[in-house]
Amino acid sequence: MKNSTTQKIPDSAPAPSHVAIIMDGNGRWAKNRFLPRVMGHRSGLKSVRKSVEFCHQNNIPFLTLFAFSSENWRRPADEVSFLMSLFNKALKEEVAKLHENNVRFKMIGDRTKFSLPLQDLFDKSEQLTEGNSGLTLTIAANYGGRWDILNAMRKAIDEGVDIVSEEVLSRHMQLAFAPEPDLLIRTGGEVRISNFLIWDLVYTELYFTDVLWPDFDSGEFMKAINSYSGRERRFGMAGLRADGSSIIKEGS
Ligand code: IPE
Ligand code: IPE
Ligand code: MG
Repeated sequence: MKNSTTQKIPDSAPAPSHVAIIMDGNGRWAKNRFLPRVMGHRSGLKSVRKSVEFCHQNNIPFLTLFAFSSENWRRPADEVSFLMSLFNKALKEEVAKLHENNVRFKMIGDRTKFSLPLQDLFDKSEQLTEGNSGLTLTIAANYGGRWDILNAMRKAIDEGVDIVSEEVLSRHMQLAFAPEPDLLIRTGGEVRISNFLIWDLVYTELYFTDVLWPDFDSGEFMKAINSYSGRERRFGMAGLRADGSSIIKEGS
């Protein structure tokens, strides 16, 4: 991989180290039940807890969840404000528990758009848990993939680098602290990236399911993992299985 900083080819990767999830379908879940959309978001929080638990039990060290995109401000004001209070409430109520469970909490995205109390909560949650060695749980909020790349470029320029290389930009990307995602899951049936981690996903295995986020449980998570494990990751080469073993016979 001399010409690219794209993640080193894993020697052995039967299970993913980093799973990223686009948690979609809350609104439709609620609509199917004749409930207001926001009830879907409330129910979606339960799936967040289940996913954290799943990663804990299955030794997956990095979980990154797309909670609010830079485009989600376009939603009706009452839905946006419900989501802001849900973030507030969830952080206040859950972070102590995460800390007890040795989880390191991270937030990626442009946090300057949030209210000062919410920014403070993000900062304090990160500070409280920064020394933890268990699961790294990253919440992407007011996050956009294009913003991330531009932000990294601006930081590189501010740093005074002569040449903006892939290595320099990687250092300034929001997920610089994590390996690149091995597996991206999108629930809710849409087959698109919606401005999520466009820099980081170049060689990520993609898994799309029609299951709506509030219905996504450990069984559904396991289906995604099983799909991942059966794939052959090639990183541009001729042949390599997901467990790292080559499918190409020597000399062929
Ligand atoms: C995803 O569910 C949650 C957020 C974007 C905050 P949606 O609210 O997009 O649900 P659908 O896609 O309308 O069903
Ligand atoms: C993507 O879902 C963003 C999150 C899950 C936070 P959206 O529901 O906003 O995506 P689009 O608008 O259908 O592409
Ligand atoms: Mg949606």
